[in-house]
Formats: sequence, structure tokens, C-alpha cells
Amino acid sequence: MENQPRMDVESLRAKLAEHGQEHLLEFWHDLDADQKVALYRDIESTDVAELVGHFKTAMESSSDTEKVDSLMEPTPSEFFGSMTKAGKEKEKWYREGLLEISKGNCCVLLLAGGQGTRLGVKYPKGMYNVGLLSEKTLYQLQAERILRAQQLAYDMYRQRGTIPWYIMTSEHTKEPTEEFFRQHNYFGLQKENVVMFEQNMLPCLSFDGKILLDQKSKISRAPDGNGGLYRALGNCRILEDMERRNIKYVHVYGVDNILVKMADPWFIGFCRSKGANCGAKVVAKAFPTEPVGVVCRVNGKNQVVEYSEITLKTAEKRDEEGHLIFSAGNICNHFFTTDFLKDLVGRYEKQLRHHVAKKKIPYIDNSGNRIIPEKPNGVKMEKFVFDVFQFSNKFAVFEVLREDEFSPLKNSNTAEKDNPTTSRHALLSLHHRWVLNAGGRFVEKDGTPIPAIPRVRTPPRGSGKVSENVQSRRANDVDDYPVVCEVSPLLSYAGEGLQEICDKKQFCSPVLLSETDQMESKESVIGTN
Ligand code: UTP
Repeated sequence: MENQPRMDVESLRAKLAEHGQEHLLEFWHDLDADQKVALYRDIESTDVAELVGHFKTAMESSSDTEKVDSLMEPTPSEFFGSMTKAGKEKEKWYREGLLEISKGNCCVLLLAGGQGTRLGVKYPKGMYNVGLLSEKTLYQLQAERILRAQQLAYDMYRQRGTIPWYIMTSEHTKEPTEEFFRQHNYFGLQKENVVMFEQNMLPCLSFDGKILLDQKSKISRAPDGNGGLYRALGNCRILEDMERRNIKYVHVYGVDNILVKMADPWFIGFCRSKGANCGAKVVAKAFPTEPVGVVCRVNGKNQVVEYSEITLKTAEKRDEEGHLIFSAGNICNHFFTTDFLKDLVGRYEKQLRHHVAKKKIPYIDNSGNRIIPEKPNGVKMEKFVFDVFQFSNKFAVFEVLREDEFSPLKNSNTAEKDNPTTSRHALLSLHHRWVLNAGGRFVEKDGTPIPAIPRVRTPPRGSGKVSENVQSRRANDVDDYPVVCEVSPLLSYAGEGLQEICDKKQFCSPVLLSETDQMESKESVIGTN
């Protein structure tokens, strides 16, 4: 091999031995020249001492089961707002958010570096099509919501602001995501306003702290968690790009929420009204033991407390009106000012600790065989995006309605919740309600009115309605939801603008309302009152 580095294998071995990692060179003599170079570089580029240190700290704190109950307090009411409880200020937040968008002060930042192991497809989650009539993928829905938000801001202020879209990918998701966007012509967005960057990868370790080999010549690595964002923002010069574009507000979100509002003007307006430099959108917990993290204060600091860290007694605590005291369920949807992000990247990032996630990690065993484990055999080290809340002295919490804004795609259809079917139903149900609220009505083919709250026919468990192939969906596969009504994000962002098309009209499912002819399935309209 040309340009071979000078390899001092013995001193590398000694260095590894200092940290109990000399097994990484166990198969050195089985490797050809290129593989030796690859492994040497792989090991040299790893700060083994730092990694082992992080592993020890993370394992110690994960086994520390002390409950934080006695230290928990809800976010003070003056920093809390709610979409459902708000009165006139809702309109103010909306206008303020759109004003900032029209001035070009807002961007969205997508966390799309996860491996999506629970969903179990081979391509990035954003490329998933849950079986909508339009066959749109999560990425396309998000892109079109950006376009619509820009349009709403323009309609209100006659000033065209761009919402740049930053997308954090990882080694696994980078290339397919880039390719997908290219193939789809950036879904109508300007290519220069879609900025992709890559997060860091960290070695995976066995439970006893040995770095795992993925191949004899390659360390096993996984993305460093969605909290890897802060390091990547600095390393990839994304903050500089934001500054160059005069961005002031950053709306960060996870890839898998099919209902996500992009650059949500209400959320941005609300956070601004509180003078917040950091904010979390939350949904009320469905029941006390629901397995979601709770946004609250611990020892006076803003934090997300994992459900496993809270006792049942605390989880069930209610106020005088009977509402759960710790009900702010975290949904990976956050607001940051760029000034605060600068502090995070420059000052606080190094203080974030790693968490350990026990996973099934393919590895090379002592005899040199590659093993695909059936049970968790090691850990991935991850930072969490919300772990920076503690550094904010102006932190706001914004509660939204779950059925309007949150339905994550985490699992395949073999699981009961957060799967392609529940995501599809959540979107269809929301759009159905938009049409009803805009004065439309739904009828059976024979004209019988369908009740506003129709009964869902649940498909048998594990029926695997959604095929792995994103292109293979057919519109008539969506027949398990009684009213199939989809509204293009290019036509409506949050239910607005549908009056003219829907008022006093009757619709027969399936209905796809789009921006061009306003109603693609014209035959499905069987009459007006
Ligand atoms: P999840 O914790 O749900 O993980 O990520 P995941 O990788 O999507 O799925 P599983 O656990 O392997 O099944 C929440 C959000 O954080 C992003 C994900 O892409 C998702 O948007 N994420 C997660 C990253 O961007 N990087 C990471 O290292 C991990």
C-alpha cells in the first residue's frame, strides 16, 4: 500500500495495555497490509484513556439508583405555557413567531443521526413512508411544512424569510439521506438552505469495559447520541453558518414525530415572550407511569428526569385540581437561541456526561468469529440533547396537545404503539379534524353521515401493514382507518386555509386535499349542502 504510515505496533500495544484494551490487536497477524493500516489508524484516532474514563463514570452513575424524588419540583408557572389553556396570547405568539420567520431569524434543526434499530429498516427513518395516500415520507412532510411556514409568514408580513434546515446525520444515515434529498430535488427547497452535517461516532464496549471489534480490522462504533449535537455544531462549523445567515432562533426536533410542526410559530413566539434562551415542548403524560422523561427542576436546575428514576409515589402526585404535578412529558422538541447554543458549544459541552445504553452489538469473539448477539451484550455511550437544560437560566416549558403534535415512529408494526400504523392514524385523525373544523362532513358512499368520532378498525397485531420498501405502498392499503383524509402540508400547516375548500362540503373517504387543484380525488366529493 502506498503512503503507509510508520506503524509502531509495539508501542501502540503498550498504550492499549495501560487501559486493558490490548485485545484490539489480537488478530493483527491475520490481517493483510491494508487491513493493518486501517486498524492502526482506527485505534490511533481513538482517545482510549478518555473513552475508558467516560465509560467508568457512565457505568457508575447508571448503577446509582438513588431516587431524585425529594429534589424534584415542577417548572415554575411563570415559565410555563400551554396551547390548550392559553387565551388571547396564543394569537400573539403566532404572529410574533411568523414575524421572526419573515425576517429570516429562524431555522430548524433535525436530529437524524439515530440508527432506528427498533423500527428495523435498512435506510434512515426520515425516508420512511407510513402508508399515506400521498406516499410522502417523513422527510417530505417536514420539507413541505417548512415551505408552508415560510408562505404563512410571507402572507402575513409581505416579507420573504427563509427557514434554513440543518440536518444532523451520522455515519449510517449521511450518504443515503444526501442521496434521497438529491433524488427528490430537495422537495422544493433551495439546496443551499438544506445543510447536512455529521455527528461523531464512539466505540462500543462490553459490559466489562472492553472495546468491541466489529471486524478484525475495525472497532465497533455507534453515534454519540443526540447530545452529540453540541460537539458537531462546533466541529462542523454549523454555528458559524447560522451566524452568517443571522439566525437567532433554532427549533430542534427528532426525525420520527410525524406530526412535528416545523419552526412552530406558536412555540417560537411563546419562548420569545418569556425571554427564554432555551425551551422544551412537552405533552401531558397520559398516565402516571407512562415511560417518558419528565421536564422539571432538580435541585433548582432544569432537567429531564427519566421515568425509571422516579418512584411511583412521586409519579402519582397531583395538585388540588387533580392534575399530575410531574406531567411534562419530554418529546425531543426544543427551542434555543443561537447565543445560548454558542455558550453550550464553547463552554458547557465538555461537562455533559455520557449515558450508557445496553444494546445488542455485533462483535468479534476471542476465536475471531463475528457474533450477532440475541441479547444485549454491550453498551453504546450517548449524550442526550436535553442534558443542556441545566445550563439555562431562562428556561421555558410549552405544553401542547399530544393528538395535534406528537406521534413518534419508533417501532415496527410488531409492537403495539409508536409504530407505522399509529403514526399514520395520528396524521389521518388530525387532518380529519381539520376538515370537520373547516365545516366539512364525511359520508359513506351511499350518503350515510359518518359520525365525527368514527370507530377505528384495529388491524390484527403484527399484520405488518407497512412494507419495508418505501416505494411499495398503495393508497388502498390505508383502509384500516375509517376516515382516510390527508391534507398536503403545502395547503395547510395547522388546519388553516381550509374553509373555502371544506365549508358545507361532503367528502367520501379516501380524500387527499392538495394545494394545486385543492382536491385531487374530486370524484370523492359527492355533493354540497
Ligand atoms: P431515539 O432515541 O429514538 O433513537 O432518537 P433512534 O436511533 O431513532 O432509534 P433506536 O433507539 O435505535 O430504535 C431520538 C432522536 O434522536 C436522534 C434520532 O435520529 C431521533 O431523531 N438521534 C439519536 C441522533 O440524531 N443521534 C443519535 O446518536 C441518536
